[in-house]
Amino acid sequence: MNEQNGKKPGAPSNEQTLTNRQGHPITDNQNIRTVGSRGPATLENYHFLEKISHFDRERIPERVVHARGAGAHGVFEAYGKVGDEPVSKYTRAKLFQEPGKQTPVFVRFSSVIHGGHSPETLRDPRGFAVKFYTEEGNWDLVGNNLKIFFIRDPLKFPDMVHAFKPDPITNAQDMRRFFDFVSMSPEATHMVTFVFSPWGIPANYRQMQGSGVNTYKWVNAEGEAVLVKYHWEPLKQGIKNLTQREANEIQATNFNHATLDLYHAIEEGDYPEWELCVQIMSDDEHPELDFDPLDPTKLWPTDQFPFLPVGKMTLNRNPEDYFTEVEQAAFGTGVLVDGLEFSDDKLLQGRTFSYSDTQRHRVGSNYLQLPINAPKNRVATNQSGGQMQYKVDRAPGQNPHVNYEPSSMGGLKEAPQQGKPHEPYYDAKLVREKIDRPNDFKQAGETYRSFEDWERDELISNLVTALKICNPDIQERMVSYFSQADADYGRRVKEGLKQEASGMKEGVQQNSPAAAEKAERKGHEAD
Ligand code: HEM
Repeated sequence: MNEQNGKKPGAPSNEQTLTNRQGHPITDNQNIRTVGSRGPATLENYHFLEKISHFDRERIPERVVHARGAGAHGVFEAYGKVGDEPVSKYTRAKLFQEPGKQTPVFVRFSSVIHGGHSPETLRDPRGFAVKFYTEEGNWDLVGNNLKIFFIRDPLKFPDMVHAFKPDPITNAQDMRRFFDFVSMSPEATHMVTFVFSPWGIPANYRQMQGSGVNTYKWVNAEGEAVLVKYHWEPLKQGIKNLTQREANEIQATNFNHATLDLYHAIEEGDYPEWELCVQIMSDDEHPELDFDPLDPTKLWPTDQFPFLPVGKMTLNRNPEDYFTEVEQAAFGTGVLVDGLEFSDDKLLQGRTFSYSDTQRHRVGSNYLQLPINAPKNRVATNQSGGQMQYKVDRAPGQNPHVNYEPSSMGGLKEAPQQGKPHEPYYDAKLVREKIDRPNDFKQAGETYRSFEDWERDELISNLVTALKICNPDIQERMVSYFSQADADYGRRVKEGLKQEASGMKEGVQQNSPAAAEKAERKGHEAD
């Protein structure tokens, strides 16, 4: 041992002793092996090469969307009812049946567009993904804070994300590109109305709602289905959104505020809680409605389809390691348990391919063997091989020579059917067609009118600030969409843009962040 070379005196070998991943104790973690103290280095520096090459591979590809996130563990407790009715009337999913039944969960909240360390104050939908580790395997409810989405066809998703993400040359988000896409996609008008209002910047992850957005199905023991939408309603912590100015103030000093807010609330025992509610509709096309129940750009009116509580979720434990649990967590809309089904919602069906496809690339082909993703019940498959497999999914007593099915020699067997299967009947041409009843603007107008005055002022100010740099034809298309939603909405955006164009600093624009920035710059110049 030589302290002069920067080595610490060796401690006796015990539980704290540093080893490499081969289990070899490390006696010197300060100096690489060299010919003489001044080098050169030798290639048999196993500890150094292992350490540096692992470091070189520390990052996995970040999520292509929803890269910035925070997670927590918790528990879901079922009410055993849906509203006042027994839940078994609508679904046979075991996790909902008994009042008080607890299911462990892991939740990952996120923002969508920017990278892994981007500010958490940005205007963006927020992800709200919940993994239920049920007794019958995992169920992932991969939702957002807002209840609707920009588009209804999954073919448009990669283009939408390209337009919203940073420009391929400047590497900066550009509202000209954002609104170019949106102005060619009128179905986005409703979502844009939410995103540019204060609902586009939730104060933190605790004080926001969640929604499955897409339409799913519940299936009962008779194989009968209903359409459902899922919603998470914050309980004691309530809902809070930010004005653009409030968000700017937070962002000036802290771009991790939502992650830290969640972490500290849980550390201090102030556990956030949400109630899970469903809206239910019979499983048909509902010609009496002016929208299609499978259209994710639409809200289901709560006077006709009330929120019915089915359980409560409490987040009560922080992750022990961010990378192991939060970064490697993999959620997907295909991850359902018996009694929960897809609907024909096209966006949902497109999503369902995309999640596990990206996770095989992002995390690896055995991503489901990682503890955060593995179900907590028994797993017995005949799948094996692929990078990073570390165990075989073998059942106790299974003949280890039989990794196929069917077999008469002691292999795995199919499970019995649990209830009558749900077997929807299809009789239609295979087509490429938009749904009937797109009705792109009516609900956007209703949402605009449902806002409080300060929310509407914010919406107009934020839209004018974003749209003022856009080409005139893009501005015109957007104003026409807002006008078709609500005449006052369109008029106010148009006037705001006109004032901007003529350099007038009156009305709502005086309060805009851009105006505040300009005024501040002037102030500095005068100093
Ligand atoms: C993440 C695709 C629409 C919510 C992702 C990821 C992909 C993706 C590829 C990254 C997953 C990963 O790396 O693990 C799509 C496609 C969509 C779509 C193709 C439409 C066709 C939506 C909608 C919602 C949503 C409508 C809201 C209901 C989320 C959430 C995450 C996510 C919350 C982050 C999950 C996590 O925390 O790991 N999406 N998405 N997505 N998406 Fe979507």
